[in-house]
Amino acid sequence: MKLLDIFPNTRTDQLQRILSDKFAWINQDKKGFLRYRALLQQVAHLRASSCDFSADMVCIGTATDLSLDEQQTVHQVLRSLMPWRKGPFSVFGIEIDAEWRSERKWNRIIPELPDLTDKVIADIGCNNGYYMFRMASHRPAYILGFEPYVHHYYAFHTLNTFAHQENLGVELLGIDHLPLFPESFDVIFCLGILYHRPSPIEALRDLHVALKPNGTLFIESQAIPGREPVALFPETTYAKVPGTWFVPTASCLHNWLTRTGFNKVRLFHDHAMSSAEQRRTSWMTFESYEDFIDNKNPALTVEGFPAPRRVFFKAVK
Ligand SMILES: C[S@@+](CC[C@H](N)C(=O)[O-])C[C@H]1O[C@@H](n2cnc3c(N)ncnc32)[C@H](O)[C@@H]1O
Repeated sequence: MKLLDIFPNTRTDQLQRILSDKFAWINQDKKGFLRYRALLQQVAHLRASSCDFSADMVCIGTATDLSLDEQQTVHQVLRSLMPWRKGPFSVFGIEIDAEWRSERKWNRIIPELPDLTDKVIADIGCNNGYYMFRMASHRPAYILGFEPYVHHYYAFHTLNTFAHQENLGVELLGIDHLPLFPESFDVIFCLGILYHRPSPIEALRDLHVALKPNGTLFIESQAIPGREPVALFPETTYAKVPGTWFVPTASCLHNWLTRTGFNKVRLFHDHAMSSAEQRRTSWMTFESYEDFIDNKNPALTVEGFPAPRRVFFKAVK
């Protein structure tokens, strides 16, 4: 599917220039990103006989779809795409136990979903597309994933080469590119992104611009506990993550949403983070949640800040 057919309001020439600049940069291979494309090319001829996106584990194909040699190649390609942050997946019977048990986040959202059938949807910071595959079982018209990281972009495209879902696409775009898509989406998911933005207000304004009138926004964010409408602004890191800017309380995020023009703003879920949800696995072998938290007091991060909660909001334009 061509982006321009789906998004008639899009600033076409600007978008094309941005994307072709990105690919020109990848082609220079200064950061070695061409290795991800090479991995995709190794398996680009393989197709899954069936997919199941309706359960916690996203299933793409079965072991019997492939010869033994092909199975080994796919296994090696998937291992080379480590670390896997979001999942779980079963790819031709190979189970990927990702760092995040993303099905938990999605199961909290399911009861709040509007009818996604025939809708045009954006998933901002979609990573490898785990949630996009879950949304695909609702038969949307099209889902566009915004993901500026080349590794995640190729992880998605490798999975979708197998799954062959033509109404799913990921582009090398960030949240800041949303103004190129004015009034384009019926539903936008912005999960786990806002605290990574130096200006959360600008990010919310960009989300507002890209929603169609009456469109629905789902925001999920890290949050600190407390009733006051305030945000924590760490000097360097929060829970060891350097790219963290503002970590709001739930009431602070509520106010950000109302003051950037959203209506019917509603907190529908709030929970403490835990290492049951984010942990080191054989598919993500670096530090994870338990390393970010004070081992003598799990109510604090290693920096001595309040340990993170996760808050879920639904709002309408
Ligand atoms: C904390 S993860 C959240 C992933 C997923 N949405 C979730 O909730 O599980 C942040 C994601 O945003 C992506 N990202 C980084 N910079 C971004 C930007 N400027 N705009 C959109 N996404 C970005 C990262 O590559 C990563 O996949």
